[in-house]
Amino acid sequence: MTAFGFRTSHANGHARLGWFTTPHGVVETPAFMPVGTHASVRGLAMQEIRDAGAQMILANAYHLYLRPGDQMVRALGGLHAFSRWEGPMLTDSGGYQVFSLARYRKVSEEGVEFRNKIDGSLHQYTPEKVMQIERNIGADVIMQLDELIEGGSEHRASYRAMERSLRWLERCRVEFERLDRDGRAPVRGLTVPDGAPALSTQDMTRDVVAPPQALFPIVQGGTYADLRTASINGILQSGDWAGIAVGGLSVGEAKSAMYDTFDTCAPLLPLDKPRYLMGVGFPDDLLEAVSRGMDLFDCVAPTRMGRHGTVFTSDGKVQIQKSSNRTDRRPLTDDCACPACMQYDRAYLRHLMVTEEPLGPRLLALHNLTFLMALMAKAREQLAAGEFGAWSSGWLSRYRSKGM
Ligand code: GUN
Ligand code: ZN
Repeated sequence: MTAFGFRTSHANGHARLGWFTTPHGVVETPAFMPVGTHASVRGLAMQEIRDAGAQMILANAYHLYLRPGDQMVRALGGLHAFSRWEGPMLTDSGGYQVFSLARYRKVSEEGVEFRNKIDGSLHQYTPEKVMQIERNIGADVIMQLDELIEGGSEHRASYRAMERSLRWLERCRVEFERLDRDGRAPVRGLTVPDGAPALSTQDMTRDVVAPPQALFPIVQGGTYADLRTASINGILQSGDWAGIAVGGLSVGEAKSAMYDTFDTCAPLLPLDKPRYLMGVGFPDDLLEAVSRGMDLFDCVAPTRMGRHGTVFTSDGKVQIQKSSNRTDRRPLTDDCACPACMQYDRAYLRHLMVTEEPLGPRLLALHNLTFLMALMAKAREQLAAGEFGAWSSGWLSRYRSKGM
């Protein structure tokens, strides 16, 4: 028996209802995963994330490697114990962050060399090192190191990055399997990284067995159907994966090109594996992706936009700061069970944002998360009833008819 599994039922076209089993519980899909970059969803407590309906959350290996350090997270008991999130967790490799955040970077076949923006220190990221980092951090699902390029890149550049991502996947797999074998042997006591305070006697003498993890490959290839096809073929030939991610989207391409890419990928991906669409999290994109067979999603957009006052409603996005909300006593939405919608009116929420009270961004980020969780729960309900297609079209036309 393996620690990971996936079952589906009630397919509606390409859309399906699924259950993704991990060592820390089952995720009912389709599901949206809130992003907790530094092992914290900005401004929100884990209990609030749970109450919003989140089943699985994400952290980023790049950020945790830099602070507090992957070995430190391990010494402090691993990501779950460290953050007090008891459910399933995933770490992104940081491939994306190296490409978007690092001050200087040099990419070669060996890996990526980059400078940390915070202190200018120089770091090497290789597929092997990323597997060691993600192993130390200890999430349930860990992502391969992939090479990202700008949205709208030419075929040739997209081809090269896709091929390199496949070669890096193979190196990730070999290292992942080595660590997995070694990790099954119990190690007496935790080691503390240099300069860190000593651990308790209890921690030093406890037998530590690394929990099982699953490595997910990432489909690349830009918006080119032939490259996406080659990427999927390469991934399927190189291993038996517990799930497969689709990356390199929502990077500036037209929405129609993104939807076409889902259409290209869906029939090629195995039916019995969860498909994780990376970095996509607007309500309309989620439904379009679910209808094209995607199961898991993450994106910083709902929390980031909420912190800046943009909120999701069934009638499209609303900017809370706009002056028409000044005297508006209505709730933010009348179909959401979050604290912002249940306890306050638009005038007060606007006031919080205008006066830069920290409660404002917190409440609005929580609303956007709650809204997406409820949307995914509704999608699962409609899938079970066999009515996803009609419901989703109706939902999208209302969402798109008003708002910003
Ligand atoms: N987050 C959003 N898109 C991507 C991607 O293509 N690769 C990785 N590693 N992370 C992502
Ligand atoms: Zn709400």
